[in-house]
Amino acid sequence: MELKKGLEDVAIKETEITYIDGQLGRLYYRGYPIYDLTEFSTFDEVAYLIWFGKLPNRKELQDLKEKFVEERKISDSITDYLRKVRKDANPMDVLRTAVSQIGLEDTRPGDIREKAISLASKIPIIISYFSRLRDGKDIVEPDPSLSHVENFLYMLNGNKPSQVESRTMDVTMILHIDHEMNASTFACLVVASTLSDLYSSVVAGISALKGPLHGGANAEALKQFMEIGSKENVTDYIMKRLENGQRIMGFGHRIYKTYDPRARILKDYAKKITEERGNKELFAIAEKVDEIGCKILGKKGIYPNVDFYAGIVLYSLGFNPDLFPTVFASSRVVGWTAHVMEYLKDNKLIRPKAIYRGEIGRKYIDLDSRE
Ligand code: ACO
Repeated sequence: MELKKGLEDVAIKETEITYIDGQLGRLYYRGYPIYDLTEFSTFDEVAYLIWFGKLPNRKELQDLKEKFVEERKISDSITDYLRKVRKDANPMDVLRTAVSQIGLEDTRPGDIREKAISLASKIPIIISYFSRLRDGKDIVEPDPSLSHVENFLYMLNGNKPSQVESRTMDVTMILHIDHEMNASTFACLVVASTLSDLYSSVVAGISALKGPLHGGANAEALKQFMEIGSKENVTDYIMKRLENGQRIMGFGHRIYKTYDPRARILKDYAKKITEERGNKELFAIAEKVDEIGCKILGKKGIYPNVDFYAGIVLYSLGFNPDLFPTVFASSRVVGWTAHVMEYLKDNKLIRPKAIYRGEIGRKYIDLDSRE
């Protein structure tokens, strides 16, 4: 039996959700190029596309928006938990626990897609309540006149987002909505394949996304730009890091061997949002790291990935760096649940093998005779 470490190049299902061409740097959701979706669509439309397999017409989009608004509420017990939980708790732990509690409280029988929509609507509430409460601020009630992403920023920051902010958030959320068979999506499917419930699957997804090898690189990339401090220091910083065998954060990808299209798209938004929020220097540093990094690492097929610009974008939108993975989860929950629904249409319990390398037939020694 062949050992496939990290399940690299192992396909576990067929999918019609996302296609990645890692050599050419292309990404498609349900067959639509990511460039078209980020240019012409909103997060609500793309969420509909991922869940239902087609772009919504006006009526379908309106229905989804209304469902999002209707489900924008969490129980008193979860709000109470968010008030009492340790202020220094890891936000991903807080989110994981709150989603688990939502699952415990949701005893309605129901369509799995309806539950997915409801959960996607509640996650931004959990994140913004926790963020404000730990900072000693009052919580902000959802505003039904706002779209999903505008409401997220409104509940986080306490003021209605500008046009640039809301479009930047829309695009960032679209870019994180799905990415084929990554670690967290696989974790969701392992749980779903046992015919457990949707909430348990999503809890597994959040748990996998929490790890720094998956959901944490955007904050590391931001930290790196802050450490560099000025455009003039970029070349020295990169050379020293590489000489010491360290990595440039936000560079490299298992699938993309060229510039990640998500980074290409986010770069323009990073420029606009940093200009509006007075973080221009941060963008200038990132752009320089991008330029020098590509010159040195591009030869090896190592280019900026989505995390490279996502950190400065989320920071400029008002998110504390420790919240970045939760924002990632608030978007990826759409992809997770869509993959669960797709997998369950032709379910097979996921049960791989391990190759045994230990001894066989050891002689049993009773407790008193053991050394
Ligand atoms: N900076 C410098 N060198 C790098 C980088 C980097 N960011 N990434 C890879 N390399 C080099 C490695 O040192 C290695 O070189 P060697 O062959 O001379 O030893 C070679 O490229 C291959 O590296 P691997 O880690 O084996 O490649 P893999 O495909 O497993 O790596 C990964 C992908 C983990 C993303 C890697 O590029 C990395 O650590 N990047 C930095 C962290 C990061 O940005 N992660 C976000 C990924 S995107 C996401 O999860 C949403």
